[in-house]
Amino acid sequence: MSEPWFLGYLEGKHWLTNVDYNIDTIFKVLQAAKELKEMYHKGVRKVNWLDGKTLYLLFYNKSLRTRNSFQTGIYQLGGQGIYIAADQVYRPTLPEDMVPYQTEAIRDVSRVLSRYGSGIAIRIYGDAAKWIIGRGHKIIQEFAKWASIPVLNMEDDIYHPFQALADAQAALEALGWPKDLRGKKFVVSYAYSGGLKPLAVPQSVALIAAMLGADVYIAHPPGFELLDDVLAKVKQYTEHWGSEFKVVHDMDEAFEGATFVYPKAWSPKGFFPPFNNVVDKEGAKAYQAKFKDWIVTMERLEKAGKPFYMHCGPADRGQEVTDEVLDSYEKSLYFEEAENRLHVQKAVMAMVMGSKK
Ligand code: CP
Repeated sequence: MSEPWFLGYLEGKHWLTNVDYNIDTIFKVLQAAKELKEMYHKGVRKVNWLDGKTLYLLFYNKSLRTRNSFQTGIYQLGGQGIYIAADQVYRPTLPEDMVPYQTEAIRDVSRVLSRYGSGIAIRIYGDAAKWIIGRGHKIIQEFAKWASIPVLNMEDDIYHPFQALADAQAALEALGWPKDLRGKKFVVSYAYSGGLKPLAVPQSVALIAAMLGADVYIAHPPGFELLDDVLAKVKQYTEHWGSEFKVVHDMDEAFEGATFVYPKAWSPKGFFPPFNNVVDKEGAKAYQAKFKDWIVTMERLEKAGKPFYMHCGPADRGQEVTDEVLDSYEKSLYFEEAENRLHVQKAVMAMVMGSKK
């Protein structure tokens, strides 16, 4: 298999957020992912483009999709992935949280792994980041500061860039791969869960929908506002394209006439530092429980005009969405989004970990 145009295209770069790159580069990643998906479905399951290269996969949190799509993806590119559970090593930690012989400074972990391999991917949010919103992202930035190999963000408390890329690929595919998403209404909506989920997915999805030119609607009950700087960036991208940007507080109003709806849970930030003096998980859960009617049903989707349904997974059945929608709605992109994690991550790994001949 000859080497593709995208191998080493961004050699040595980190991938911490999609907004670190311009719109043209995002389209290039999506084009590479499209080509990789076509190859995959033609039966090409292994190339040697990343021969001899290792990606370390450091998880402070659980995962099904992210862990397995990264590990499978690096193998399919000819490299290997090594899973590291944060509690099975000296826990990589910022200077203020060091405990002798229990933790290891991130600046040292990053430099050690840089001596062995070709990339470090990290997931950290929620309890692992002490529920201080922004701390997970700060930790990933610390890895990137000290690593001499690419650092990839597998989800922190602000961004989940690879999920958003996979979702963008699914949205473009659903429409037959138009040039961009101009004129398409893309709704990122709150949906109820009894769990506490980070802001990373709704923020990253709203950003990428705006980067691709969609009319972006964000729907949530009071108290579930996204971060101000993320909203400002979404606005900036929609202004660039001349597309719409609205925040509404009613799920049905937001869904009306949408091309895509992306309803999922996130936590009300006012219960957590730096927006609150203490971490109040019980208060957040009690507050969320007032909004159990924010659930996606078949009736709701039909009333809205049958938009494409999207969710990053894992979806909380009976809370965020009904079984019927997940199991039988004909315009659900749920499993396509999950599959696309493999393709977009292979695209970025080939770009940043690969070398041009
Ligand atoms: N969507 C996503 O990141 O899934 P996992 O938590 O299973 O990795």
